[in-house]
Amino acid sequence: MKPTIRALQQKKARSEPIVMLTAYDYTSARLAEAAGVDVILVGDSLGMTMQGHATTIPVTLDDIIYHTRAVVRGAPQTLIVADLPFMTYQISPEQALRSAGRVLQETGAQTVKLEGGVFMADTIHRLVQAGVPVMAHIGLTPQSVHQFGGWRVQGRKKSEAEQLLKDARAVAEAGAFAVVLELVPAELAARITDMLPIPTIGIGAGPHCDGQVQVFHDLLGLEEAFQPRHAKRYANLAPIIREAIAQYAQEVRRGEFPTMEHAFNMKEGEVQ
Ligand code: KIV
Repeated sequence: MKPTIRALQQKKARSEPIVMLTAYDYTSARLAEAAGVDVILVGDSLGMTMQGHATTIPVTLDDIIYHTRAVVRGAPQTLIVADLPFMTYQISPEQALRSAGRVLQETGAQTVKLEGGVFMADTIHRLVQAGVPVMAHIGLTPQSVHQFGGWRVQGRKKSEAEQLLKDARAVAEAGAFAVVLELVPAELAARITDMLPIPTIGIGAGPHCDGQVQVFHDLLGLEEAFQPRHAKRYANLAPIIREAIAQYAQEVRRGEFPTMEHAFNMKEGEVQ
């Protein structure tokens, strides 16, 4: 049965870790569901992993809708969170309602995620009042990477940590059903996790969050050039895939593929 946001909150109450993974297409979503993840995030990290951009900023609402539709078809029994991209919700709560409405109506995803703490609390409240479940995202919020001046851990200094505590409290009070903590010191993430009634989902936030999220390509070693410190490679698929493609190319060039094993014959007696 498809888990609900309530099921995630019950997991927190039972201290059962929540497993979230990104996916961006039908095939990866099918694999993630078959592996038993609790939540699939159609993250705007697709700007990097699927589109080759340097940041999430160029991702559009139509991009998210396109990828989320495919993910929903691949993982019909998994809770799906779709990211709201940069500038599709920051301008006003009305804009956020319109964007979230499109995502839920056009994709079949059940929930949306947006970045921001205290300053997004009103918007979260309006969305929740309108029946849209919202996952919040604080700490290093990638849509603000230029404002932060890079992919830096947030909350190392006392003043930053105090702001993050305020952000966490604000999104929970506004009605978010969970909050992603990205690149936050482990002690601070533990404190936020203890303090909040809603689940925290960490990425680069240490082991004390209620759940963890990882990016599909990082987990499977699909991007060879770069591995973030917060990611662990559970497989190293890039060389395996490259080698398989190279072998295919070599066999075609040598006339070794296809053989008749992969070909078809005309019906008996028809050749003459
Ligand atoms: O877009 C994304 O993949 C995310 C995760 C890193 C949390 O927001």
